[in-house]
Amino acid sequence: MTSLKDRLKAEIAESGPISVADYMLRCLHDPEAGYYATRPALGADGDFITAPLVSQMFGELIGLWAVETWNRMGRPSRFVLAEMGPGDGTLMSDMLRAARLAPAFLAAAELWLVETSAPLRAAQAERLAASPLKPQWASRLIELPQGPLILVANELLDCLPALQFIRTDKGWAERRVGLGADGELAFGLAPSIRPDDLDPQTPLGVVWELSGAQESLGADVGALVRSRGGAALFIDYGRAEREPGDTLQALERHQKVDPLACPGEADLTVWADFPGFLNGARASGAQATPCLPQGEFLRRLGLDQRAEALMRARPDRAQAIAAQRARLAEPDQMGQLFKACVVHGPGLIPPGFEET
Ligand SMILES: C[S@@+](CC[C@H](N)C(=O)[O-])C[C@H]1O[C@@H](n2cnc3c(N)ncnc32)[C@H](O)[C@@H]1O
Repeated sequence: MTSLKDRLKAEIAESGPISVADYMLRCLHDPEAGYYATRPALGADGDFITAPLVSQMFGELIGLWAVETWNRMGRPSRFVLAEMGPGDGTLMSDMLRAARLAPAFLAAAELWLVETSAPLRAAQAERLAASPLKPQWASRLIELPQGPLILVANELLDCLPALQFIRTDKGWAERRVGLGADGELAFGLAPSIRPDDLDPQTPLGVVWELSGAQESLGADVGALVRSRGGAALFIDYGRAEREPGDTLQALERHQKVDPLACPGEADLTVWADFPGFLNGARASGAQATPCLPQGEFLRRLGLDQRAEALMRARPDRAQAIAAQRARLAEPDQMGQLFKACVVHGPGLIPPGFEET
């Protein structure tokens, strides 16, 4: 079978360079060879590790966040509990274990997983086989059934594609993926008008990223929680303010690799654009919190108390638990670059955001 790289090269030779966003979409979701369609590898033995895989404390605290959100929504007797991009199912499995403390919450919840990857759907089914709720799957948010919504998504925004723009001495240009003189994939520039939002005084050579996909997801999520009530928690690494920077990154076995070297074989991401995502949500009439650094958010939910309880229960594992807490919350680890925000319906104050 022709590799994705060879197919992309042939298509570019025939039709011309493609945008960085189209390149990301093909690398992640090409049905025959895209990373998520064929070989997503999470965890210590895979390509990248996420917060739920660092420690069970992450999912447990988010589970308690969901229970308290449901309380503040007036304890609806039926609601949709959804996760978008659930990876191998660890986050939801830990959330549901913590939620066993609230049987009325579990009795009211209908569990939906929004996932595009067939191999990850299989991993989620296995991970959640013994959980108190039986999951159902959707490919898109719009397929979720009616009803109040509590949605969580960790490290989903960074998989959504972005365009890249750069100011050059000849004017604005869009960075595109084409072919170099040697016939291999190579970045190039195509003249472009200045996108509306970008600062005309940007210094030469500086890259801006714009993700229409992240902004339109914000609008979709906002429309859902505005009309049904509820809240959607998004956590990711990224920018809290609009600022420039080239953040396109490919990871294979925890190492950064050239994003053009092996399309489909590495995870390919950009930083979450929280301002764009939240603009989309607010424009659709929903309310939204500011971004809180992940460390601050988890501490407000009780990370330190949970870590101490686990250490008391398992003194033999105290050092490992302390290291996990630090990894999740310290500013020089995941505590500052990762951020949390909530898009919600009118009148709700999401847990953790009372003071913002
Ligand atoms: C980086 S993984 C994060 C997994 C998990 N949330 C965690 O924290 O371990 C990204 C997840 O988003 C899913 N995904 C990527 N693009 C998606 C899309 N457009 N719609 C729904 N899920 C998507 C992937 O298949 C995967 O489950």
